[in-house]
Formats: sequence, C-alpha cells, structure tokens
Amino acid sequence: MADRPPTVQDRVPPEVRARVEELRRLIHRYNYEYYVLNAPTVSDAEYDALMLELRRLEEQYPELITPDSPTQRVGAPPAEGFATVQHEIPMLSLGNVFSDAEIRAWAERVYRLSGRHEVEFVTEPKLDGLAVSLLYRDGVLVRGATRGDGYTGEDVTNNVRTIRMIPLRLYPPEGVQIPRILEVRGEVYMKIRDFEKLNRERGEQGLPLFANPRNAAAGSLRQLDPNVTASRPLRFAAWDIGLWEGTEPPATHVQALDFLRQLQIPVVPDYRVCRTVDEVIEECHRWQERRDQLEFEADGVVIKVNDRALYQALGVVGREPRGATAYKFPAHEKTTIVRDVIWSVGRTGKLTPVAILEPVEIGGVIVERATLHNEEEIKRLGLLIGDAVVVQRRGDVIPKVVATIPQRRDGDERPVDIPQHCPVCSAHTIRLEGEVDRYCPNPNCPARLKASLRHFASRNAMDIEGLGEKISDLFVDLGIVRSLPDLYEIDWQRVLQLEGFGPKKVENLQKAIEASKNRPFARFLFALGIRHVGERNAQLLADHFRSIDRLMAATIDELLQIPGFGPAVAQSVYEFFREPKNREMIERFRKLGVRMAEEEAPAAMPVQGPLAGKTVVLTGRLESLTRSQAEELLRRAGAHVTDSVSRKTDFVFAGADPGSKYVRAQQLGVPILGEEDLLRMLRESGIEVETAARSER
Ligand code: IVH
Repeated sequence: MADRPPTVQDRVPPEVRARVEELRRLIHRYNYEYYVLNAPTVSDAEYDALMLELRRLEEQYPELITPDSPTQRVGAPPAEGFATVQHEIPMLSLGNVFSDAEIRAWAERVYRLSGRHEVEFVTEPKLDGLAVSLLYRDGVLVRGATRGDGYTGEDVTNNVRTIRMIPLRLYPPEGVQIPRILEVRGEVYMKIRDFEKLNRERGEQGLPLFANPRNAAAGSLRQLDPNVTASRPLRFAAWDIGLWEGTEPPATHVQALDFLRQLQIPVVPDYRVCRTVDEVIEECHRWQERRDQLEFEADGVVIKVNDRALYQALGVVGREPRGATAYKFPAHEKTTIVRDVIWSVGRTGKLTPVAILEPVEIGGVIVERATLHNEEEIKRLGLLIGDAVVVQRRGDVIPKVVATIPQRRDGDERPVDIPQHCPVCSAHTIRLEGEVDRYCPNPNCPARLKASLRHFASRNAMDIEGLGEKISDLFVDLGIVRSLPDLYEIDWQRVLQLEGFGPKKVENLQKAIEASKNRPFARFLFALGIRHVGERNAQLLADHFRSIDRLMAATIDELLQIPGFGPAVAQSVYEFFREPKNREMIERFRKLGVRMAEEEAPAAMPVQGPLAGKTVVLTGRLESLTRSQAEELLRRAGAHVTDSVSRKTDFVFAGADPGSKYVRAQQLGVPILGEEDLLRMLRESGIEVETAARSER
C-alpha cells in the first residue's frame, strides 16, 4: 500500500476519525435516552458540549460530514414542492370494528380462513397521527415518505430527519445483523400537551390554531421548510415493517417490533400478544379505559395476527388486510353548531363564556354546552354565533370548543357580545390590565354565592354530604343562605316546609353540615375559595401557620417563605385576609364553632411508624384512594409528600399507569412500592384507611 496516492481522507488523523465516530454514537445514545426512553443520563449542557465538539471537528474536516451525522438533522433548505414516492409494498388501511361482537366476528373469519383453532393476536394502540415510511439502506436513513393514497406518497425525507426520535443511522447491538434494506412504518404524532402548548403559542402570535394533535402533526410534517418542522414537537412510533432485504425477516409481528426496539427505533407502546379473542377484547377495554389518561391521542386499538406468514396468506379485501383490524373508540370530538353564547359567573366573579350547542352525542353523552374559557379564547378561535365548530369531550372533563370551521359559514353568523354588565346582578363588569378574564365585582352577586357555596360543600373541601348543587342553589335562591357562614345558621323549620324536604332528609343534611365544622384546617382554607389556593397550597398554609390567627397576621414576606409560594399566591392570600368582609366572615365561622386550626396534639404527626419523617412521592392512579386523600393520610403518618423524585426521596408509591416519576425512581434506585404497601404502611402508622370506594354524592 506504500505507493498508494494520497487521498483527501488521509488528511484526517485516525484519532479524529475515531473521535467523530464516538461522538456520533454517544449523541445517538443520549438522544435515544432523552426522546424515546424519557430518561436522560446526561445534562443538557453535556449533550450540547458533545454536539459542539462534533460540529467543530466537522468544520475542520468537512470530508467527514455524512448525511447521517446528528449535526445534519436541520439546515436543509426549503423545498419547492415534494417529490412523489412509490410505495413498493402498498401502505394499506384498516377495517374497523366497533363492538365486542364485531371483534369476535372478525376473529372468527381469521380462524375459519386459516383453518386453525389457535391464532395469536397482537394488540397495540391506534395512534392518531399520520402514517410514514422510513427507508434504511445499510443502516442509514435514506428516505422518509408519507403514506399518501397508499401507493404514492410524498418525499418528506428532510422533514423526517428533524424528528429527534428517529435515528439517522442504526447502531445494532453486538450480534444483531441489520437487513441491507429495511423499511420501517409507523406514525408521526404529537403528544397532547405538546399540541396544546403549540396552539397556545400560535394563539399568542395570532396564527390559526390546529383543531387536534393529528392535524398539527400532519401540518407540521408537510412543511416545505424543514426548519419549521424542526421547531414542532413531533414524535414517531413504528407499528410495522415493509421492505426487508438481505436477512431473514422476522416470523412474527412482535418479533419485528422487538427487532426495531433493539435498533432503538421507537415502537408503539404496550403492544401485547393475546392468545384468545377474550384476551383481545379485554385488552381493547383496558385501552379504552386508559384512553383519557394517555399522553397521546389514540382513536382505537389495532388488532393484528401475529404470525406474519398467516397475515400474508389471509390476503386483502379492497385496501384492507384481513389479518388486521381497528377496534375504534367512540369519537370524543364532533362537529356541531353554536346557537348562542351565554356567560356564567363563578365564585370569584369570573365570567366564563359558554357555547350553547346544537345537541350532539359525544362518547355516549348528549352535549349541549361547551366552555369557551374567556373572551380571548373566543377571539383566538375566531368564533361567531352560528358557526360550525369542533367540540371535544374527554372522560368527565367539561366539553370545550376546540376549533371553528369558517368554511361552513353562510353569512348569517354574528359576533359574540362581550358583556359590559353581569348577566346575573347587572353590576358593571371589569377586566384588569394584562388579564384575560372579566369579572363581576359585586361580592353579593347571587351567582357568585351559589358557586362559592357549591365549592365550600364539595367533596375535597368541607365535604357536606347531601348538599349538592341543586339544594345549595335553592338555598341561595330562597335567601335561606345569604353568605357562607349562614350555612351553619339555617332556619331548619323553614326548610322542613319546602317541597321534597322530609324530616329524615333534613335531619341528615343538618347532621352533615354540623359534622363539617370539624374538618381539618387545610380543607377549611381550601373551602374558602381564595384565589390561587387549591388543595395543595391550602395544605401548605395549614402546615405552616397552623391556625387562622397566625395566618391572618402573616405578612407577604412571611407568606413567601413557604416553599413553592410565588408572589401571585402570597399577594392573593394576603389581600384576602385584608378585606374587612372576609375578616367578618372568618369571625362568624369562629363563633359558629368551625375549626380553624390544626389539631394541636402532634398526634397528627407520629414520630414513629414506617412513614414518619420519610420523603415520599406518589405517581399513577390508586384504586382505593384519591390522590388528595392519599396525600392527607401520608401527611398524618408523618411523611413529607413531594412532587418530584430525587436522591432524597425515601419511597415512591406507584399506582396504575405511573408516569416519568417511576422511571426517574428506577434510575436513582429509589424503592418503588405499590398501593398495597401504602395501605399497609398507613395502617402500621396507626392511620385508619377507609378503602371502600366512597359514596358519590
Ligand atoms: S397498522 C395494513 N398499526 O391507522 C394496515 N396502523 O387505518 C397497516 N395507525 O394508516 C396499519 N396506529 O396511520 C397500524 N398501531 C398501528 C397504528 C396504525 C395508527 C394508523 C396508520 C394507518 C391507519 C390505518
């Protein structure tokens, strides 16, 4: 080799070449940990330093730059248009099933056509984004394409490259051989929170909003300028393989997904093999129940035959393979018409615009009203009365208008009036500088009192069983209750004369109201409805001051001493107790015997027991307790309940579907305990736990 002419490559010292390789490998790994595993092991600064070092070396030796270098994700110039791409293997669509019976019928056909009695199925979430194909040649990403019509898609390679979760190059682990040609198929999507943040930012900039995460993902990927795509929080999850050349393809779908995972390609979460239809149905129900807790939109569950040869053999009808189907969840978005906008008055006096809708069924419930949040939101949506709109309802959350469809206007629409007077008491409304909300300033506005009373009596506040919305509204309307303390001085003789109030009911209500006088101090503080004082801050205030007198005497500086208290909370608490009307109200509560201090005996804080003095974190859903109940009991057992996991955390209690705190705990080696442990430790701390699901009011 001695007489080989010098090539450009020879200019690069071998150690530089090796370092560049190493940097790319490290950056790839940290990217994977950060974006896919959601569990970074290096700080942003360390990561940035590696990128910088790589950039410098590449500047010095441009011949080392390859398209699969992590420095090359962004920076491609805007395109004139997208080239078309032919999918060698068409990207088909899926048939739908909507019920258990239809799942069974679909599976029956699979059993019948295959002549088998046992078939393995795989269930996975149906992500609501857009399908793309990624082509890797010799382990390097060479093409990204949209599904298009299934046969012809668009070449979005430069856009796909900006998605950090997608490896530009594959690093197979020891002993794993990658096929010369590997086509990965999956979904580009957006997490709900990222979508909401994006829309918030767009709203602030006066840009049109995306109706849902799917549109946001599709709109972001199909940008001619890849720099725009790069700025959008897109994600990817693989759900299939397409072309595969050079090695033996996997025999089952799950093996294919496992293989992709080995290559650190993100795949659909929680895919599961089911051996019977019953298991499939169970999985579908499980997904449906979890649906509203997911970080991403899923519109159903995809059911696939695991055996790839069988899947192929089952063939295709129209554009739908017989070997897979989608169990679709009921839609949680529908379009309908806004007939009117009314304004409701809350306990702080805040006016909330509410859209009165042409009734529409969403997820089995007829929706006739949806919140519009505030007048800025109306502006942001560009809403006119008479507009067709997209309404969303998830689980128990209040339905909201998420988008308008201006294309469907016919000219009869009219703008929404912003109320200058309170619709309930006619007081002049006010909107403070820099705030989006409008208020009724009249503290005696009946609408405000109704809302305050509902909150005061609610489950997590004074928990007055039997005093629901109907009765509390009625008491305000009849003047039986004209202020919160009036609740403890009700003229029961008068109530007994009302229709529907028998002696038994009145006695129970009276008892429940009486019993509420002795709720923990924190609950009372929460029940007062002080702005910015939710359950958590109420607890912090109660723990810190321990009595209403000390709290009322607190200065802003003292309030700011509480960890987690910012100026807005401190100011709001301070002002609440400066207001003479509020001080009068507190005095009345005191005279009426409402408890306004922490139990003095430190019995509430055991110094012994498995939880005393421990720092604990809760994550996930508990079966037998609500989050706030669990927190209260843990505190009573002497534990400090904190929000984030650190090395100082003694235990993490994880319920169902735990979040990133769980991963963090694993990384830090913090013991992770379950709900059973939690209940046991509470009992061992001498705390009575009411585990039976509590009666709903
Ligand atoms: S498999 C032959 N799996 O749903 C069918 N698709 O209606 C190949 N989708 O175009 C699709 N999650 O955009 C499959 N886990 C999943 C999916 C999924 C979402 C989308 C995909 C596809 C559409 C079919």
